[in-house]
Amino acid sequence: MTTATALLDYDLLERQLNALLDTEDALTNCAQTAAFIYQTIPQLNWVGFYLQRRPQTLILGPFQGQPACNPITFAQGVCGLAARTRQTQRVKDVDTLDYHIACDSASRSELVIPLEVTGRLWGVLDIDSPIPRRFSTEDQAGIERLAAIFLRSSSQVSLQALGNEQI
Ligand code: SME
Repeated sequence: MTTATALLDYDLLERQLNALLDTEDALTNCAQTAAFIYQTIPQLNWVGFYLQRRPQTLILGPFQGQPACNPITFAQGVCGLAARTRQTQRVKDVDTLDYHIACDSASRSELVIPLEVTGRLWGVLDIDSPIPRRFSTEDQAGIERLAAIFLRSSSQVSLQALGNEQI
């Protein structure tokens, strides 16, 4: 079966995001990256950043979609699990997880990518879909590449200014 997912050209999305992020400012790049993913990848209902601005705590950053839960500690939710394990969480059906935090009851699947800066957990990129099993391993790999472009395009100084240098 052909799906919208299978047709996505992540090489093209990578080139487009690279061109879009023409500033080194991490705040601008967070906002642009969230908007770019929300507009170009189909069947999403939320895309955004949570930043470790307090120790072991994720604070809501730039996003697209409905107002969201804040703050989220490392002990909570799919985002917290991604932050403390530093491993991408690809959840096929959020309703099967008792630790999932439902900011929007319409969300059915989720992808959370940890973002590291100089060996520290800087934040996470969180993406929600109203479609169960929305994210394939190809989507995970493609969106991880987009997250890496965000980090590469942003200066260390502006990343550290948004995060917490004490952590
Ligand atoms: N579902 C997330 C919370 C953030 S919202 O999806 C925007 C979680 O379980 O950590």
